[in-house]
Amino acid sequence: MAIRNIVREGDEFLRKKSREVTVFDNKLWELLDDMAQTMYKANGVGLAAVQVGVLRQAVVIDVGDGLIELINPVITKKKGGEILDAEGCLSSPGEYGMVPRPKRVEVRALDRNGKPFVVKGDNLMARALCHEIDHLSGRIFKDLAVRMLSQEEMEKM
Ligand code: NI
Repeated sequence: MAIRNIVREGDEFLRKKSREVTVFDNKLWELLDDMAQTMYKANGVGLAAVQVGVLRQAVVIDVGDGLIELINPVITKKKGGEILDAEGCLSSPGEYGMVPRPKRVEVRALDRNGKPFVVKGDNLMARALCHEIDHLSGRIFKDLAVRMLSQEEMEKM
């Protein structure tokens, strides 16, 4: 396993669309392992492959309930209205914005062996799922932020 470099906001690479994963091999597993290690090292709760320079639809998330790997994830349901809360991104260190996200989502994805599964997420998990899935189509949280937090507000966090 290895820590990979995180692509920073401003790099046009982050705006590219990721392609579907069709081969579930050692190369994919190594990518997923490296992504998890890179996310934990950076104290993040989620990371998309595009953020380590790979245009594949692969995401890792751990909001404190254990690691989840999602391949080719698709949001299939949004429920409970929208919640406005602070959100950041490992590609934009030290910056946070208020972003509306669904309270609850259901996501269909494949695991690292290509087996389908469904994950349901509330609150922070729903936010992380939406944020990372956005990365796969080149969207970043600032595109949806209603405003960015000031230095003073971030210090209070
Ligand atoms: Ni992000």
